[in-house]
Amino acid sequence: MQVPPPAAAAAPNSAPPALATSLPVEYYADPSYWPIERREIFGREWQCVGFDYQLRNPGDYLTEIVAGWPIFVQRGTDGELRAFHNVCPHRGGIIVNDGQGCQANLVCRYHGWAFGGDGSLINARDFGADVPGDVGLTPIRVGVWRSVVFVCLSEETAGLDEWLGGWDERMAEWPIEGARFHSRSVRTMNCNWKTYGDNFLEGYHVPLIHPGLARQTEATKYRVWNYGDRRWNVHLTPHPDDALQPGTFMCFWPNFSMDIFPGGWCTERWLPRGPHTTDLVFDYFFFDDCAEADEIVKQSEEVAQEDAEFCDLVQRNLDAGIYRQGYLSPRHENGLMDWHEMYLEVLTEGGPARGVGPHPVRNPTS
Ligand code: FES
Ligand SMILES: [Fe+2]
Repeated sequence: MQVPPPAAAAAPNSAPPALATSLPVEYYADPSYWPIERREIFGREWQCVGFDYQLRNPGDYLTEIVAGWPIFVQRGTDGELRAFHNVCPHRGGIIVNDGQGCQANLVCRYHGWAFGGDGSLINARDFGADVPGDVGLTPIRVGVWRSVVFVCLSEETAGLDEWLGGWDERMAEWPIEGARFHSRSVRTMNCNWKTYGDNFLEGYHVPLIHPGLARQTEATKYRVWNYGDRRWNVHLTPHPDDALQPGTFMCFWPNFSMDIFPGGWCTERWLPRGPHTTDLVFDYFFFDDCAEADEIVKQSEEVAQEDAEFCDLVQRNLDAGIYRQGYLSPRHENGLMDWHEMYLEVLTEGGPARGVGPHPVRNPTS
């Protein structure tokens, strides 16, 4: 009697598609990638650094450290927003103290050189010689999108509006303006920025590490949806009409999200401080008629703490030398597939992912 061929041989087209894999572990564990990421990603992409409520009056400033570059943004006496590296051209002193405040004059804290609002040198205190005229603060690009302040360290990157692309249109239906600042939280995690970013890009883990959140939502139906641009995606628990609603996370490459709550919203930033240190920063905003703001923040902070603690554990394990690379779920981890692919293109091909416009994207399987 003849033995039938194996099913796979009889029907080659029915073979399951190959599973996608995560980034190899060295991208999370080997610090030698950090200088490349600084230069090719954080030195080129627009980065959220604060909010216009911090910069209302002439002289108001805020500082941030963008992947190791200390910068400040200030509203000038002419009302214009300008941004500079917070690095004095004399010998590297700081121009404004870290944090936020109001300071009419830009005077270096180290030896007292004074700069105009446009960054030009006005006076080199007690120097003993003329300083060449081209010495001044190093300007950087600044832009505001619907009350959120961004800077970009590269002159080559598209303008903020173009860079945001379809994100702006997708967010248009959701009110942002008018909500007041409520509070900020900052956590320092001992993990690579991508370890947290990967965690943010999927809801697969929600039933396991966020029991409180899982009780409130249909966590197993959490999905990450793309709209033709790999750089940003929308995280939805099921609802019928694809409308943005409380509980939606809007995630934008490489380290920014806007999270929508009942009666308000927050931004979430995972800011690399080095290859194995990442600050997780939440800024909460609510409309005046929201009575549950404190409770919403409490719940959000509980989830953030669960994520931060677990990402530190994952990083410990990535560093241990036993894990190399894993398979990604086509149902839940499609967002990671897109970002990992984009990341490798940026690092190895000089950055086609930075181009603004449509890209092939992966959406969840059923
Ligand atoms: S470093 Fe700024 S004045 Fe000397
Ligand atoms: Fe989480």
